[in-house]
Amino acid sequence: MLRLLAATVLFFLGASVSALPAAAQAGFPIDPEASCVSSSCHDDMAKQEFVHAAAADGEQCVTCHEPPQEGRHAFELAVAEEELCAMCHGDMADKEYKHVPVAEGMCTFCHDPHQSDNPKQLNFPPNSELCFNCHDSEEFEGPTTHGPVGEGQCLKCHDPHTSDHAYQLRAEPPDLCFGCHNRALKDPKGRTLPAPKNTFRDDTLNLHPPFEAGMCLGCHLPHAGANYRLLLEPYPETLYASFSPDKYICFMCHDDEAFAEPRTLEATGFRNGNLNLHYRHVNRQKGRSCKACHHHHGAPNERLIRDKIPFGKRTINIRKFERTQTGGSCSPTCHRPVSYDRYEPVFNTLKVTPREGVDATPEELERAKEEQLDE
Ligand code: HEC
Ligand code: HEC
Ligand code: HEC
Ligand code: HEC
Ligand code: HEC
Ligand code: HEC
Ligand code: HEC
Ligand code: HEC
Ligand code: HEC
Repeated sequence: MLRLLAATVLFFLGASVSALPAAAQAGFPIDPEASCVSSSCHDDMAKQEFVHAAAADGEQCVTCHEPPQEGRHAFELAVAEEELCAMCHGDMADKEYKHVPVAEGMCTFCHDPHQSDNPKQLNFPPNSELCFNCHDSEEFEGPTTHGPVGEGQCLKCHDPHTSDHAYQLRAEPPDLCFGCHNRALKDPKGRTLPAPKNTFRDDTLNLHPPFEAGMCLGCHLPHAGANYRLLLEPYPETLYASFSPDKYICFMCHDDEAFAEPRTLEATGFRNGNLNLHYRHVNRQKGRSCKACHHHHGAPNERLIRDKIPFGKRTINIRKFERTQTGGSCSPTCHRPVSYDRYEPVFNTLKVTPREGVDATPEELERAKEEQLDE
């Protein structure tokens, strides 16, 4: 029926006038006083589930279509199509950020002017099916796909028309993210994702500065990506990982020097004398990932040190981390209580792998102490 009507329109717009029967070329025999919708004309109008209030009956057609005149039945639009909807709806792109097809008045690409079986007279279901008419679906797929993106819920984050936030977002991160991440969620493998909003609001925690600043997109992608947890760069999923700097998103912002050498008097504060404890834990075949000690968003102790870390069904505790002016101590599940001091190395009797490199001399330690504690 639609195609038939469209063909009729084309005919009367003169697309192939010569093919018209002589009677029709002479004019459409209609009564200008009659309703446009009757049992014989346009009787498919206002039949679908969602009907445009402005096209609900035959009397209103003429608000958008030129009224039929004797001898003519061209239904020309009353005003140019790009301006038609604004007659009643005003400017749908009146905020700072405007979706291009809306700003260009392409309303009828997404909406049927009369009726539809989709809500809001949409020509497509109100999900990614609509968006993928113009946006490339492949950009929204990846080994890690964000829950709402995979479910086609683009409209949860984007306004289809216009917004005060870039990319027509409904809100800016972190508020946008906290709209859903205000509670624990499950990832596709069924693992619990704790609520970052609780971390954000907990003022007993030390927050990672970029997290505290609400820069979620400094580390995460919103749609899909190659890495674990939608991260911009890789991060080991597991607690243990053989070391390579390109496995850690952390080095996007932090210097990997702190992990490069077995001995240092300056590259990190996590050292005992010049024994680099970052290197010793992380830079080895069965290296500990940062998450063995640090939390990525925020933790109860200084330097983002955790109290505990979930490990399979168990919990590893990092009890009583205490930082002093020159070192620190803790009593983790992993080994017996230990402490470290940057200038007066502590003698720890752990059964350990041989230490690489050479101990600093007392003079070197003294010099480092003078330089660093003066700062
Ligand atoms: C809100 C504005 C608006 C109203 C009200 C409206 N139309 Fe339309 N109509 C349009 C637009 C826009 C088009 C597409 C025109 C084009 O593509 O050239 C259209 C196209 C049509 C077409 C041809 C293609 C199609 O979709 O079938 C017919 C027939 C039609 N209208 C009939 C009606 C009738 C009958 C009514 C009253 C029940 C009506 N229209 C009310 C805006 C409107
Ligand atoms: C003659 C005035 C008029 C024109 C022109 C008009 N509309 Fe409407 N439109 C209305 C009215 C009245 C409503 C009902 C508003 C309500 O229910 O709050 C409406 C509602 C809508 C809705 C929302 C339906 C819903 O369920 O909330 C959409 C979408 C819409 N119009 C799209 C369009 C588009 C696209 C155009 C241009 C092709 C257009 N309108 C032109 C008067 C108009
Ligand atoms: C890219 C597709 C797209 C374009 C283009 C578009 N819309 Fe919409 N519009 C939508 C979607 C999707 C909804 C439903 C929004 C929702 O449910 O949150 C909607 C909803 C509406 C509504 C209902 C009220 C509201 O704000 O949610 C109106 C009215 C409307 N559109 C009018 C227009 C007009 C007028 C234009 C042209 C200036 C237009 N739309 C262009 C996709 C579009
Ligand atoms: C009729 C085609 C069309 C449809 C349908 C469409 N878009 Fe767009 N969209 C565009 C065009 C054109 C641009 C501007 C060019 C670009 O940035 O790719 C754009 C840009 C965007 C932008 C970026 C804005 C910016 O500031 O860079 C977002 C976000 C967006 N669209 C979201 C959506 C969503 C969500 C949907 C589905 C509800 C959708 N689009 C449906 C054509 C469309
Ligand atoms: C969880 C919220 C969220 C969902 C769901 C979402 N987006 Fe986005 N989208 C964003 C954010 C945030 C940005 C801004 C990214 C930036 O600043 O780099 C964005 C940017 C965009 C852009 C412009 C930049 C680009 O990446 O091309 C387009 C287009 C876009 N989104 C379309 C979509 C479509 C289509 C869907 C559904 C398949 C969708 N979005 C679902 C949050 C979301
Ligand atoms: C400095 C980088 C960084 C910033 C900024 C950041 N995240 Fe994360 N986020 C991570 C890392 C790394 C992980 C993976 C941790 C793991 O599984 O070991 C993660 C994990 C997550 C998870 C999964 C649950 C969890 O905590 O393990 C969610 C949800 C999340 N982030 C949301 C957010 C939100 C929302 C923001 C902004 C308020 C944000 N992130 C800011 C690095 C960051
Ligand atoms: C509309 C709800 C919604 C919004 C808004 C939202 N998320 Fe999510 N997010 C989810 C759901 C549901 C999951 C769990 C399914 C999954 O893992 O993808 C999830 C999972 C995640 C994950 C873990 C992904 C994985 O599978 O490893 C990260 C990281 C994340 N979100 C970050 C963000 C960030 C950053 C924002 C803001 C830009 C945000 N989310 C906004 C619903 C949302
Ligand atoms: C987007 C940039 C960025 C990324 C990525 C990033 N950080 Fe940070 N981080 C910062 C900034 C900025 C600071 C504050 C200045 C500083 O101490 O260097 C900081 C501080 C820290 C601190 C010290 C906090 C304190 O209380 O003094 C630790 C520990 C830390 N980050 C660990 C990590 C770990 C582990 C990762 C990887 C999971 C990581 N960071 C990824 C930007 C980042
Ligand atoms: C075995 C526990 C442990 C592991 C694993 C670990 N750290 Fe640390 N880190 C610490 C401790 C303890 C401190 C605090 C040192 C001090 O100032 O006393 C620290 C300090 C830091 C700082 C502050 C600057 C500095 O070096 O003193 C950053 C940044 C940092 N770590 C990043 C990382 C990153 C990135 C990883 C993974 C590649 C990682 N850490 C792995 C325990 C660890």
